[in-house]
Amino acid sequence: MAVTSDAARAGASVGLTFDRLTIEGGKPLRGTVDVRGAKNLVTKAMVASLLSEDISVLRDVPDLSDVRVVRGLLEIHGVSVTQGVQPGELLLDTRNVRRAHVKEIDAHAGSSRIPILFCGPLLHQLGEAFIPDLGGCRIGDRPIDFHLDALRKFGAIVDKLPAGIRLSAPNGLHGAHIHLPYPSVGATEQVLLTAVRARGTTELRNAAIEPEIMDLIAILQKMGAIISVEPNRVILIEGVSELKGYAHRAIFDRNEAASWASAALATKGDVFVKGAVQEHMMTFLNVFRKVGGAFDVLEDGIRFWHPGGALKPVVIETDVHPGFMTDWQQPLIVALTQADGVSTVHETVYENRFGFTDALQKMGADIRVHPRGFAAPNRRVPRRELEQAAVITGPTPLHGADIEVPDLRGGFSHLIAALTAEGTSTVRNVGIISRGYENFGEKLKALGARFSVDG
Ligand code: EPU
Repeated sequence: MAVTSDAARAGASVGLTFDRLTIEGGKPLRGTVDVRGAKNLVTKAMVASLLSEDISVLRDVPDLSDVRVVRGLLEIHGVSVTQGVQPGELLLDTRNVRRAHVKEIDAHAGSSRIPILFCGPLLHQLGEAFIPDLGGCRIGDRPIDFHLDALRKFGAIVDKLPAGIRLSAPNGLHGAHIHLPYPSVGATEQVLLTAVRARGTTELRNAAIEPEIMDLIAILQKMGAIISVEPNRVILIEGVSELKGYAHRAIFDRNEAASWASAALATKGDVFVKGAVQEHMMTFLNVFRKVGGAFDVLEDGIRFWHPGGALKPVVIETDVHPGFMTDWQQPLIVALTQADGVSTVHETVYENRFGFTDALQKMGADIRVHPRGFAAPNRRVPRRELEQAAVITGPTPLHGADIEVPDLRGGFSHLIAALTAEGTSTVRNVGIISRGYENFGEKLKALGARFSVDG
């Protein structure tokens, strides 16, 4: 099956020698895990290096299969990517950027959505770009219309071909007025990476303002860009003709931190997430506390634990920043299966992000998914066309089962469910998890998880 080979390939690219875990659940996770740079910043920061003809240094880069994909794509475009002196330090030398063959691009892009962000930098450097059909997690349609509309406004010519999209900019790119229909993370990054070197000023309205985007803006500012973040999701970018390399330590991965926090809660454990920063997790921390979890913010990280007693149900709606992130709901839902009462999660960012709950139901959870969502009073965000809802009734003991990872975040929630369940579970396709969780096998071992690995 395609999913299996994608997963196995992703895992193998970071040296994962197994694609299946047999987990003996029912044991609290206890100990310390380190989180490093955010997948959703690091990959974009690597692309940003293409905007200069210089050397950039990126620190705290985790060893993830998505990082390997971007590295491969950069290398086929002539970028030399080497390991720095410190662990997790990458040197990106963009002094010899060149065209890549369509076949090579296709082979490297495989399962990632990042290639779409190469458009602006390649148009500036080479006057053309080719983007193959995009991969990424199967969590909805995930169209790229905002990206292409924005690129056209900058003056790019977009040709859709059977194998992908060819872009060119024979007259260079110019500043534009862009109003995004939705504050899309990727489309905001697209505009930033294109506008910084376009002629004139760009005004971006309804921009995403996630912390990873602010970190990307910080990198671009180090490179020489002029970007101001105005109130009400407006970003102004004054184009400059040249940018230099940067040296930057990536923002920590708050999705990974929230995942380990949820694992601590669901398994009744106690996990110190070294590297987690309160400022970027406030919305998660509020919900964690409401559910009945305890946390302590320390100098170098955050300790999360289950303080005993019953967990409480909550109503959550996922949203763009500063709302509750869509990537946090999957791991937390496992803990909600153990809460005393009915929880509701409204998913408003993606139209298909509850597929992972099938496995949880197989393990004994009571989760009802409403594919078209449902109206509920006191909603914080107006209902979005594509939203879904999951109603979780707890507490339900979970039991071991044979389950298959469907996507990255759903996959981590499967691991948590297997660790929470009484008995033995077999979790297949775990290679996908290496797209966003560095060394997850070793981290689980360090937290005392009982599991064995299979090919
Ligand atoms: N959308 C469109 N048209 C577009 C672009 C987006 O309709 O041209 C829609 C999407 O279909 C979705 C919504 O807008 O319904 C939001 O998508 P967004 O563009 O914000 O997401 P993304 O940039 O593709 C990034 C992360 C996701 C994370 C989301 C939301 C990366 C590589 N991916 O995706 O992370 O869930 O933002 O915060 O940065 C993950 O890490 O597991 C993951 C999926």
